[in-house]
Amino acid sequence: MGTDKDIQSNGSTNIDEKNSFSIRTCTIEDLEGVIAVNERELPEDYPYFFYKNILDNFSESFLVACSENGEIIGYIMWRVEKMPSTNSLRLINKGHLVSLAVFQEYRRRGIAAALLTNSMPAIKKHGINEHVLEVRVSNYSAINLYKKFNFKIEGIKKKYYRDGENAYYMSLKN
Ligand SMILES: CC(C)(COP(=O)(O)OP(=O)(O)OC[C@H]1O[C@@H](n2cnc3c(N)ncnc32)[C@H](O)[C@@H]1OP(=O)(O)O)[C@@H](O)C(=O)NCCC(=O)NCCS
Repeated sequence: MGTDKDIQSNGSTNIDEKNSFSIRTCTIEDLEGVIAVNERELPEDYPYFFYKNILDNFSESFLVACSENGEIIGYIMWRVEKMPSTNSLRLINKGHLVSLAVFQEYRRRGIAAALLTNSMPAIKKHGINEHVLEVRVSNYSAINLYKKFNFKIEGIKKKYYRDGENAYYMSLKN
């Protein structure tokens, strides 16, 4: 385990091989694996060009988690969007969490936390004032994760998802 591109790894000192993973930036060759995680773990699917566009424009905050054998087991992607400021109608650049998922069998090992920890400073380099995201109101695990990173619930977006579920809009001001 371990390549020049590795940003963070907990593999070297971990005796439980199932708990070993590495985090690195996504490459074009990884997109198939990213899409496989997305399609298994989230109802929101995107076309290939959507991932490719984010990779082309925000590659340094598009990270993948890999298992010991190199399989993609999680990913995170962000983009910068101009959005109204919370306190005024002025448009400001915000780092928007587009998608984050980890394969079910690899959960509760700190993979999502590692993906967030390593990607948030990378998207911040684009000069954003806030990290923002939407999360299903029923998604207890993800809400808990974001609260752990000090994201605050700012409001509810009614029927945000295609199936009609509401989203919490969460934000972390820099
Ligand atoms: C949400 C998700 C990404 C978390 O991934 P993960 O790798 O299991 O998360 P981590 O192990 O890094 O957990 C970090 C923290 O998140 C919170 N958390 C994660 N899973 C949780 C659960 N099932 N119940 C309660 N809290 C949870 C905890 O605070 C946890 O810290 P702790 O383990 O010290 O208690 C994962 O459950 C997932 O892929 N879900 C499906 C896709 C999804 O919902 N994505 C988010 C869309 S907004």
